[in-house]
Amino acid sequence: MGQILIQAEGVSKSYISGRETIRVLHGLNLTLHSGEAVAVVGPSGSGKSTLLNLFNGLLRPDSGRLQLFGADLASMNGRDLAALRRSRIATLFQDGNLIPTLNVARNLAFRRHLAGRGDGDDEVLLEALEIAAMAGRYPDQLSGGQRQRAALACAFATAPELILADEPTGSLDIHNAERVMQLFFDRVQAGHLSALIVTHNLQLARRCDRVLELVDGALRTWH
Ligand SMILES: Nc1ncnc2c1ncn2[C@@H]1O[C@H](COP(=O)(O)OP(=O)(O)OP(=O)(O)O)[C@@H](O)[C@H]1O
Ligand SMILES: [Mg+2]
Repeated sequence: MGQILIQAEGVSKSYISGRETIRVLHGLNLTLHSGEAVAVVGPSGSGKSTLLNLFNGLLRPDSGRLQLFGADLASMNGRDLAALRRSRIATLFQDGNLIPTLNVARNLAFRRHLAGRGDGDDEVLLEALEIAAMAGRYPDQLSGGQRQRAALACAFATAPELILADEPTGSLDIHNAERVMQLFFDRVQAGHLSALIVTHNLQLARRCDRVLELVDGALRTWH
């Protein structure tokens, strides 16, 4: 087993909305090693996106212990977390996270630059995702599925060690979903990437090393 990238022990997270407390996660445990691809399934509203935003440090747990890349989240400040998110952890958000004022090619170049990666094979990446023809378009000129693939290209362009992906094939047809899965598993198998993938795509889930289900605020093995 490789290095431990995520270690969550007894993690809880609630949201306060007006007078209401929405208890989302409680007593959640997870150990994710480098080289692993883990799928997370669970119904809408069960807390899957919340989970990913704890693991990229955008949210902090209310209680419990969370370690990212061997460091305790409680001991990390905003700058530490921003550095982690720029180059080591890429998050593929459910709604895509492209910069609206940059075209696709510039979105990729900007993210790669922020991650300190120098020149990259952006064209190869865009071709692999069949959106090379969209390189000059702005995000609002793309379809939902094209936007999702462009966001994925941005995530891969930063050459992260860990990808947290929120339904990466959610807007894709079978052919494009297959291409996206290929990109993930090529990199995982080459030992360059670990992944935590929220998905409703059972084909994608089954290709992961483990499938976990989010039930009553905690993760358990899915059968
Ligand atoms: N900022 C917020 N303030 C208050 N409640 C929130 C907030 N974000 C999420 N919630 C609530 O927390 C619960 C978990 O939300 P989350 O987005 O993590 O679910 P999810 O499993 O990703 O759902 P989906 O499959 O629909 O994307 C839901 O009940 C949601 O309404
Ligand atoms: Mg969600």
